[in-house]
Amino acid sequence: SATPVTVTVTGAAGQIGYALLFRIASGQLLGPDTPVKLNLLEIPQAVKAAEGTAMELDDCAFPLLRGIDIFDDAGQAFSGANVALLVGARPRTKGMERGDLLEANGGIFGPQGKAINDGAADDIRVLAVGNPANTNALIAQAAAPDVPAERFTAMTRLDHNRALAQLAKKLDVSLDEIRKLTIWGNHSATQYPDLFHTEVNGKIAAEQVDETWLKDEFIPTVAKRGAAIIEARGASSAASAANAAIDHVHDWVNGTPDGDWTSAAIPSDGSYGVAEGIISSFPVTSKNGKWEIVQGLEIDAFSREKIDASVAELTEEREAVQKLGLL
Ligand code: NAI
Repeated sequence: SATPVTVTVTGAAGQIGYALLFRIASGQLLGPDTPVKLNLLEIPQAVKAAEGTAMELDDCAFPLLRGIDIFDDAGQAFSGANVALLVGARPRTKGMERGDLLEANGGIFGPQGKAINDGAADDIRVLAVGNPANTNALIAQAAAPDVPAERFTAMTRLDHNRALAQLAKKLDVSLDEIRKLTIWGNHSATQYPDLFHTEVNGKIAAEQVDETWLKDEFIPTVAKRGAAIIEARGASSAASAANAAIDHVHDWVNGTPDGDWTSAAIPSDGSYGVAEGIISSFPVTSKNGKWEIVQGLEIDAFSREKIDASVAELTEEREAVQKLGLL
């Protein structure tokens, strides 16, 4: 049978890890014909919990799962990896300044990027989920000069899916009636969910909703959804975040459907005035295992301002990590 694809998951014993690993092992990440081998990376204190999850993975008897290894060393965990899901991160704790947060995450994503550079397979694809995801992806990328820059991406697919769900509810349509939604910018409260190119049954979504709903309800609801989940659940989004990670990698590897696009944070080539090199969310299609930015969209003044604000935040984050010597 086919050679297994090695998928390395960091933060494997965390909440998202628990929601993610079973879906990878069941074939939902790469498709029903691709066997997988899981490499789990955790900090030493959480290795035992990861072993517990591995026991449960065994007990699912997934036909596609060809092995699980658990590590507390990045060099070993990324050796031979084809896909890296960087979930484990240092959360912001009370009183922590942004600089401290970026520095703490630099201490995680820098060494992981280096380990990817030194030991991952030639076709390695990296998705940063752990926050601040876009800048963590940039830090890992900078530590991996031998890996093509485009292989480092960050997750805005959860924001994309949240926006789809809000719009479907508002217009009382099913999800498959919606196409071409875009999340622009940073995975943060400044992100911009754009309905001006979104089509619902072939008609522009922004023209089917009132402006007040779009500006004062839709955009903030999508941007603040993470906080609303924490408030309701007493814990942050985990299953939906895992689901979005699955969607991102699945589409990257298998392609996006004709006539539609999705959202992913990928290195900017300068398109749409987004500073070159930052890892920013764009409308993207995927073909032959490569993301491409959808070109030629007209950006009106309202959207321009929103995109610029989120991009400005990303360039500030980049400057901050440059100052810390992380790039
Ligand atoms: P969690 O706290 O339940 O799990 C994080 C795990 O990472 C822990 O088990 C911890 O031991 C591990 N970890 C910490 N440092 C590590 C390192 N250096 N190497 C390997 N593992 C390490 O957190 P949860 O809920 O699973 O979330 C993980 C991250 O995902 C957070 O940063 C969160 O903010 C982010 N997130 C991102 C979303 C997005 O849309 N981009 C959505 C939801 C969460």
